[in-house]
Amino acid sequence: MTKPLAIASDHAGLELKRTLVAALEEQNIAVRDFGTHSSDSCDYPDFAHAVARAIEGGEIERAILVCGTGVGMSIAANRHAAVRAVVCSEPLSARMSRQHNDANVLCLGARVVGTGTAVDIVEAFMSVRFEGGRHAGRVTKINQQTAASTASQLNKA
Ligand code: RB5
Repeated sequence: MTKPLAIASDHAGLELKRTLVAALEEQNIAVRDFGTHSSDSCDYPDFAHAVARAIEGGEIERAILVCGTGVGMSIAANRHAAVRAVVCSEPLSARMSRQHNDANVLCLGARVVGTGTAVDIVEAFMSVRFEGGRHAGRVTKINQQTAASTASQLNKA
């Protein structure tokens, strides 16, 4: 990966995010932290959208989003056509999401997974590549539907 790994959280994910940043930097992985930086209550979509826009703009390729469950972050991030976000609670799904689905955003629930499991999930997500081949056509079908839905919604406006 040539671009930095983006990371962001809301207040519920802040402590886990800090732990992950430290673990990633220990492995010499460049990290760009999009916030939040305080434990004050905040809104997860603000951070999910900021990170997703950076992916759309080509500034970053991959990201980790942390909230209480990972669910809100994933729903918000997946509204962006360039994003394929997954919520994972164990390493196998994280690894397979890269290999088969070309997932580019990993969402974690700080109230769901413990720190050790979260570190293992991130390691699994970062350690493998998209396999392409038969999976490429399926990912293209995901993207085609995103484009079709966006076009149909725009036509209604
Ligand atoms: C915040 O209380 C919580 O709703 C948020 O972190 C996240 O879990 C939403 O999906």
